Amino acid sequence: MRNNDGSIDCIVQAIVDITAYKNAEAERMKLTLEQEKVNILARFIEDASHEFRTPLAVIYTGLELIERAVKPPPETVLRIRAMKEQAMYIGKLIDDMLAMSHFDSGPAIVTMPLDVNFLMRDLHAEFEEAAQAGGISLVLKLSAVPAPVRASPSDLYRALANIVQNALDFTVPGGTVTLESAIVEGAATVRVTDTGIGIATEDLPRIFDRFFRANQARTGRHAGLGLTIARRIIELHGGQIHVTSEPDRGSVFNVVLPLSR
Ligand SMILES: Nc1ncnc2c1ncn2[C@@H]1O[C@H](COP(=O)(O)OP(=O)(O)OP(=O)(O)O)[C@@H](O)[C@H]1O
Ligand SMILES: [Mg+2]
Repeated sequence: MRNNDGSIDCIVQAIVDITAYKNAEAERMKLTLEQEKVNILARFIEDASHEFRTPLAVIYTGLELIERAVKPPPETVLRIRAMKEQAMYIGKLIDDMLAMSHFDSGPAIVTMPLDVNFLMRDLHAEFEEAAQAGGISLVLKLSAVPAPVRASPSDLYRALANIVQNALDFTVPGGTVTLESAIVEGAATVRVTDTGIGIATEDLPRIFDRFFRANQARTGRHAGLGLTIARRIIELHGGQIHVTSEPDRGSVFNVVLPLSR
């Protein structure tokens, strides 16, 4: 810098440039390594899941056969049904773990143009019978105009179905679950409202966490992964999910998705 020929300035500049380049390169390597770790874990979960499926199917069918062929006494029937339920629970857990690993590591979802109202009609049709059986009214209110989004139909359906399933699970007979779609402030909104048991204010921030269940009585049949998966899918669609709830009065889950025109 003391010389007027510019030579020292050039060296300083070169050092700065190389340092910045090295930092960027190190950062890139770190990200690549992280992604590789995630991929290895995802492949492991996938392989392990397939290994679990066969013995699980053998256990389940074995129990069915014993129940039918041996005609056991009532208390044994109860035991067998509890074991079958647990086998089914492990199956669901495997599916959910596969889904989580897929959405965390796999390629992004494949989207196509879709009217959200089509999914809403399918959801209503799928859950109507279960709602009736539980003494719950399942009401469908669709937006007057289509609600076009870009979505992976099966993944978005899975996310919304998890929310509707919860609404039915946590609403007592005589209650109502309402599925609504609307265009609000230039976005497609899906709202699932229930008149169920509600969620305590201190639990609200945690309901999207992995394996979180506010109601411990649910342990053993539900892993607490449904909302984690739902939120991940919605985020992969560029959307958001919000919840408001009041204990003993019910909950409202709002899903907001960008409109595609
Ligand atoms: N509509 C709702 N009303 C009351 N509580 C709810 C509602 N939806 C979610 N919750 C609470 O949030 C927890 C987490 O929900 P989530 O769907 O992730 O798990 P889960 O339903 O218990 O199990 P899984 O979905 O894996 O079968 C639930 O266990 C429940 O305590
Ligand atoms: Mg759930």
